[in-house]
Amino acid sequence: MSFTPEFLDELRARVPVSGVVGRKVKLTKRGREFSGLCPFHNEKTPSFTVNDDKGFYHCFGCGAHGDVITFVTETEGLSFPESVERLAEQAGLQVPKATREEAERSKKRASLYDVMEEIAKWFEEQLAGDTGKEARNYVNRRGLRPETVSRFRLGYSPNQRGLIRKAMNARGIDDEQLVDVGVIKHSDEDRRKDGRKDGSEYWDYFIHRLMFPITDRRGRIIAFGGRALGDSKAKYLNSPDTILFHKGKVLYNLASARQAAHDLGEVVVTEGYMDVIALSQAGFPSAVAPLGTAVTEDQIQELWRMVPEPVLCLDGDTAGIRAAHRVVERALPIIQPGKSLRFATLPEGEDPDSLIQTQGSAQMREVLRTAKPLSEMLWRKTTMGADIETPERRAALKAELRRQFSAITDKDLRFEYQKEMFRRFDELTGVTIKGAAQSAAQAGRQGYDSPGYNQGYNKPFRKQAGRKQNRNRQWGKKDSFELDPRIPRPNLPARKLAQRQEQVLLATLINHPNVLSKQLEDLASLRLPSEEYNRVLQDLVDVIVRDPDLDREALKCQLCDKGYSRLMDELLSPAVMDHGKFARPATDSYAAEHGVTHIAAMFREKQAEQEKGVHSREFAANMDETGLTQLEAHKQLRQETSGVAIDLDSYDPDAYEDSH
Ligand code: UTP
Ligand code: MN
Repeated sequence: MSFTPEFLDELRARVPVSGVVGRKVKLTKRGREFSGLCPFHNEKTPSFTVNDDKGFYHCFGCGAHGDVITFVTETEGLSFPESVERLAEQAGLQVPKATREEAERSKKRASLYDVMEEIAKWFEEQLAGDTGKEARNYVNRRGLRPETVSRFRLGYSPNQRGLIRKAMNARGIDDEQLVDVGVIKHSDEDRRKDGRKDGSEYWDYFIHRLMFPITDRRGRIIAFGGRALGDSKAKYLNSPDTILFHKGKVLYNLASARQAAHDLGEVVVTEGYMDVIALSQAGFPSAVAPLGTAVTEDQIQELWRMVPEPVLCLDGDTAGIRAAHRVVERALPIIQPGKSLRFATLPEGEDPDSLIQTQGSAQMREVLRTAKPLSEMLWRKTTMGADIETPERRAALKAELRRQFSAITDKDLRFEYQKEMFRRFDELTGVTIKGAAQSAAQAGRQGYDSPGYNQGYNKPFRKQAGRKQNRNRQWGKKDSFELDPRIPRPNLPARKLAQRQEQVLLATLINHPNVLSKQLEDLASLRLPSEEYNRVLQDLVDVIVRDPDLDREALKCQLCDKGYSRLMDELLSPAVMDHGKFARPATDSYAAEHGVTHIAAMFREKQAEQEKGVHSREFAANMDETGLTQLEAHKQLRQETSGVAIDLDSYDPDAYEDSH
């Protein structure tokens, strides 16, 4: 069985030598190479090296040398074809059937590389010669330095039909070869936009264009791109697909970028030829570009052979963002642990070439530095313009997020994405995180610390309030828990704040005995965190049980009789009234009742948590009219916090009053 050289090349490119050798030899990374103890002779100090860039291993001790295929033949005792098949299987490559035709094609291909080389040289000569004046001017206008022009081997296809045929025929290259490489076409085939009849039976493919040779990963020329210098419908024209060239697999400048990528650890993917060249000239030699198409899966794999996280440059306009979203979708199924993409957004209307021209390479560096990870792009893509006004829409967004990251095939990575997306989702929809430090960090990171929000006040709730306001949520006035960021907040530590909430509750009950009697059963089962306040609550309940129609002043007297006069001064102090305005005697009892319901629900939540759910079950079993009211209050609170556990410390009883 024989294999085509192209297939063997592909195999060698796909399977890193270190991966295969590493199964037999313990390898240590040393710069660009690996080293280890030679498996082919006995040694104590390592003289065996593996170089993935060059695709070979070499032993300085015994001289053993070869590529990934020879390594398998030598160490597994397999024949060459057997080794190839084994490696192909591991790499997921289909072994092409070696037919006589294949062998012919292969031979033909080999000769076509030479043809391409001749053509490229001729284009270069044209650029340098008499006919190339206009093209040279253009090149200068675009700021390309002479050494850049020669490094990229730029050329010119003259504005005269039939020239290339004549020139190539004179060098012993026949018309069919020129057709095979795609520089001329039979006239009975479709006319290309640019090809005009030259009186013969062939059409020229490139006329009056600046020519960019396109190479394969080894640096052999396989196609051309041409930029129109005059009027042409197609600004850029690429060679058609030929036996040398398959557009979706090739990256412009790959061969040189590969060298640079290893030293720099970065690869920049841009859209155009001119961008690659401008980048390279400005000190970003590891730039590549697809050829007028979106980045394909094959190309992403190729990029990963250079660096784990290539950076894609995007136009800042909507078309660019849409293009990026398509790349995200394409990449998700193939990303791997450690292997991903990053996305750098250019200022609107700029490409790397124009950015470097107008703002310099430092600015370009900055754009690359601020590239966003794929996960960020996925998040933005999915949540862009998403509506999260209602529980249903929030759930729909969550489902969409799940649908997106489900495309990831690697299990661990998928799980990491799930965590990341849901964490962001919780932040977006207003989860409160327990622990002051944590929530502070959270709020800070989210940028909710606008100056209007005073320091020291509880951040998660503030954050949520900000969110609601941003969304301009229309709540019924009575149900509103909006916080007004303009209203100064008392500076209370969390522990004090919790106590303040207990105080507000008790003060409201003292000032509004009708609320107390209305919610009697409910309040009777409520436990407050502070022992002292809890005792007051129970006594309040006792007093009202005996006399449900007691008025405010009579209630106060009874409490004084019980020895609470000093405590009452504290409870009814301006500080408490300020904090929960609904506690004031002047407040209408509807507002007071609402305030009590909400604070009670919060404490109940905490209580339930402490009792590890025991209480909740009892509560459900003893459901009665009051219980139902309570349950409604729970539900409402839950809705407002999107079903997330409420952080007691972050509850602001004042918020209710503020909206009245
Ligand atoms: P752009 O239109 O962004 O051009 O195309 P550019 O790269 O900025 O070129 P200049 O600066 O005007 O010279 C980006 C890429 O899209 C492909 C080419 O690969 C081009 O480099 N393209 C564009 C085509 O294949 N055909 C076209 O007609 C236009
Ligand atoms: Mn451009």
